[in-house]
Amino acid sequence: MGASGDICVFNGGTDRIECYLPITLPTSKIRVKRRILRDGREIIEPVAPRRTRIESNDYFEWQISYKDRDTGELVEFGRLLKLFIEKNRITRREICRIIEEYYNLPTFQESFEIYREENRVEPRLFGGDFNVLVEKTPILRIYLEDDDSFIDIVLRHKQRAVGYQSMVFLYIPVSSYKIKPNLVGRTARAKQRVIWTPSRHDITAILRAFMIASEKHRSDMIRILRDQIKIDC
Ligand code: ADE
Repeated sequence: MGASGDICVFNGGTDRIECYLPITLPTSKIRVKRRILRDGREIIEPVAPRRTRIESNDYFEWQISYKDRDTGELVEFGRLLKLFIEKNRITRREICRIIEEYYNLPTFQESFEIYREENRVEPRLFGGDFNVLVEKTPILRIYLEDDDSFIDIVLRHKQRAVGYQSMVFLYIPVSSYKIKPNLVGRTARAKQRVIWTPSRHDITAILRAFMIASEKHRSDMIRILRDQIKIDC
């Protein structure tokens, strides 16, 4: 990790902007997930990477954040955005174009809701006394450029208030060429980290995701760009 203490840093040796992802910490927001497609349905199951061999179609799931809650310092996506702009990998014009494009769009949080569908359970299962309800949670997905990565924006009920909140999750295939080392066929070591080298398209897609997720995320992005990266569009 760099002097900043963040997991995303500029590596002067390789001239690359990289994130060092801890994949085995129980408290980490980075997990290994197995994505199974069964009868046209997608099932996402957690994998314990110290005990289970990683498979080629597993993903790293990262609830990527952008600001330290206590200090307000930029972390993770906040740092990536700053580094990509400072190192001229993304232009200010490009950023402002995204801000302007998304500024007046409705947000995901205000456009969707969680709802239930009710059906009878077949009598041969539980004797015919019950109905089964399935709760449907809308998920807004944006596919990233070229390695089967994607971002899911998931609607949740707020924990201690009325209404919904949006959660942003980045999914990176374990076998992506942007991930080193390749852990396929192995279990992870204690304190295993993998290095993710995002492209500029990954960064602009994550910015789009936060700009559409909710009013709160949108205003956070604009404020970070204005106050901490000095881009006032
Ligand atoms: N706030 C900061 N990062 C977030 C994320 N990934 N999802 C939802 N809210 C966030």
